[in-house]
Order: sequence, then C-alpha cells, then structure tokens
Amino acid sequence: MQDIETLESELLGEIGNATDLDTLEAVRISALGKKGRVSLMMRGLGQMAPEERQVVAPKLNKLKTMVGDAIEQAKAGLNKAVLEARLASERVDITLPPRPELEGRIHPISQVMDEITEIFADMGFTIAEGPDIEDDFHNFTALNIPPEHPARQMHDTFYLPQKEDGSRQLLRTHTSSVQVHTMQNVEPPHRIVVPGRTYRSDSDQTHTPMFNQIEGLVIDKTSHMGHLKGVLQEFCRAFFEVDNVEMRFRPSYFPFTEPSAEMDIRCTFAGDHIKIGEGDDWMEILGCGMVNPKVLELCGVDSSVYQGFAWGMGIDRIAMLKYGIPDLRAFFDSDLRWLKHYGFVPLDVPTLGGGLSR
Ligand code: DAH
Repeated sequence: MQDIETLESELLGEIGNATDLDTLEAVRISALGKKGRVSLMMRGLGQMAPEERQVVAPKLNKLKTMVGDAIEQAKAGLNKAVLEARLASERVDITLPPRPELEGRIHPISQVMDEITEIFADMGFTIAEGPDIEDDFHNFTALNIPPEHPARQMHDTFYLPQKEDGSRQLLRTHTSSVQVHTMQNVEPPHRIVVPGRTYRSDSDQTHTPMFNQIEGLVIDKTSHMGHLKGVLQEFCRAFFEVDNVEMRFRPSYFPFTEPSAEMDIRCTFAGDHIKIGEGDDWMEILGCGMVNPKVLELCGVDSSVYQGFAWGMGIDRIAMLKYGIPDLRAFFDSDLRWLKHYGFVPLDVPTLGGGLSR
C-alpha cells in the first residue's frame, strides 16, 4: 500500500495546481470518488490485521478530511476568481453618455421635473428631498393637522403596520412633509423646491395611488403674498412657454397656510388639447399661501421673526397638460411604444438658455 504521507503531499500538490473548476473536480474524483485513491485505501482496511487497522484507520480518516477540506477551499477560491472575471468582463460604465441610436427616452415626468427645477434653480431656489416613508408628525401634526383633524380624512393615507409603541408610519401624502424636515434641520432663511413621489389610496382615470408633486417654500423676514404671486407668475411664463399667462387666485383653505389660495390659469379646452393663456376657461394648478405661524412654531422657527410662503402642485397633471397626454395611467404602464412617442431624447437636457422643450 502506498505510504499515506506521500499520497497526501501528491494530492495536495494536485489540488494546488488545479487552475480551473473542471481540473479540480477531476482531482476530487481521482482521490475521493468511488474508485479514488483514498477510497481504495479505505477499502483495504478490511483486509488488515486489527492492530494494523487501529494505526492506519485514523490516519486515513484524517487524510480524507484534509483532502476534502483542501478541495472545498480551492473551489471557493476558483469560484471567486470566476465571479471576479465575470464582473470585470460584464462591467457597464453608467457614466457614459447614451448612444443616440438607442431607443431609450426620458419619461415625461422626469422631463417636467427637470424643467421645473431648472426654472426655480434659476430663481435661486435649491432642491430639497425627504423620505417617502414618514411619521405622523412630519406628514400631519407639524403641518397643523393634529389627530382627529378632518383634513386627515381627505388624504386617503396608506399606513404601515403598527409598531410596538403603537405608532404607525405612513407613505407621505404630500411633499409638504419636507418643509418640516427643512425647517427643523436648517437655519432660516429657506428657499427650496421639493420634487418627489407622493401616495394616496385613490385610483381612477385622473388619480393614481402614486403620483408626483413639487413643493415650494420660502422663509425669511420679509417675504409676502406679493412675492409669492411674482414667483408663480414667472414660473408659469417659463414653464408653459407663453409670455402672457393670466393667473387667478381664489381664496381657499389649507391647515398649513394662512391665508390660503388656489391658483388657476386662463386656458381654452379644444377637444383633447388645451391652450394656455387665452380663452374663457380657468384651470386650477396649485395650492399656496403664507405659511401658518403655527407651522413655523411646530417646526422650531420663531414666528415673531420669520414668515414666508409655500405652494404645492401636482406634476403629473401639468405634464399631461403641457404635452397633450390624455390618460394619466399610461404614465405608469412602462409601455415602450408610449414612451417612444411621449418621451424625450436623453441628451436634450432642458435649460432656460437652450429652451425647456423643443
Ligand atoms: N399639500 C397640499 C396637497 O397635497 C398642496 C399644498 C397646498 C402645498 C398649499 C402647500 C400649500 O405648500 O401652501 O394638496
């Protein structure tokens, strides 16, 4: 019988030399397979005298374990090398510009978000973002909507399962929650816009459970309703790309603003299409007002020193209006033919200098 030490060093040598998984498997079969060299030696134990077997058997068992372990270890190393080679060969540089011959398009929502943020950035606003999953305080209480306030019913809120302490998180029902984060965490003055996803349990031709809003907030010592009107006027002019957009402010109510208003713009509806800036119809596009001093206080801002205004608007609907898209639900269908028709070429980034939409 071959000497165990020699066999051990031969096998470990073969394992060490195996540079791919197939070779390693062949070594495993030749050592530990049914007719493998270690297995045959184990079988030989039966013919040995008991005294001899007592000495050899533990050595063989040790050899078997050691060879098995060495193969497993080598296998893990080779698998890792295979994975690394694959990752290297399949690497995609996502920072490369898109190739124009490909059919990928920018979704109209993304386009409109880019357009809106471009307009407000030009007016000196910065972009703020917050979490989609909120607590009750940020989505409601801090915005002057305490528990039992009727405005809560109107929000058709999606709640997460109750936590051990009895509280329940929720999917934010409006981007106004980000006003709260900003006022709590950043020293005033504030001049932010907040684009983002919002959620309400509502679904029909003009409502989807997930939709997009953009919120604006200005807080300083002197800003007033006149500034709010000026900012929104400039926004409408730039966004709808018409020089004269007639706006109308109607008194309204929101718990977080006082006074509150809704803003309409003059338009005409002609079939599917809508013309902005002329005609006898009015279309509501946003809610706004002076930030309620109670909200300032709840967010830790001294309302005897600071004041300001806010507004909130649905992005999906104004995207439909601007680009003549008839059905809201198609926004979320991921239908490539639809996207090819209504989408935007990736390199046509909207800028005020170059034109928002061409
Ligand atoms: N959060 C309101 C909504 O989702 C929209 C809104 C109205 C936001 C007035 C505001 C505002 O900041 O001042 O219906």
